[in-house]
Amino acid sequence: MIYLGADHAGYEYKNELITWLKSKNIDFKDYGTFSNNSCDYPDIAYKVCSVMSPTEDFGILICGTGIGMSIAANKFSGIRAAVCDSVELAKLARTHNNANVLCLGSRVIKFPDMFSIVRTFLESEFEYGRHLTRINKLESNRIY
Ligand code: RB5
Repeated sequence: MIYLGADHAGYEYKNELITWLKSKNIDFKDYGTFSNNSCDYPDIAYKVCSVMSPTEDFGILICGTGIGMSIAANKFSGIRAAVCDSVELAKLARTHNNANVLCLGSRVIKFPDMFSIVRTFLESEFEYGRHLTRINKLESNRIY
């Protein structure tokens, strides 16, 4: 399952993404926000990251830059959130970092780029090997 979340800055982009996901018959759950009214990105990241399974699901979080969402999401155990503003980063975030949350910045990327970034993120697979050793260290090095 794909869990979606956006703050007010990402609201319109989330709507566009929902239309795109529906057109591709890709299932998702929408955790808001549901209007242009100002809200706080940590609250949305919390909603998504506290319900998604880091091993089974993907999250897509959208704010103005993607940065706030990624900082908030990476506080959750098992979450590896990556801000990606290009197809290349989306591919590397999956293949090398096994990222399970894609963070997008509505003030950074354009709609057509968002779709190709999301498609690449969803279709790319983790390469394991040396990257698995590093992924495991991300969890074992947690200090909280
Ligand atoms: C909201 O104005 C903006 O600060 C937020 O969407 C995000 O870009 C923070 O990282």
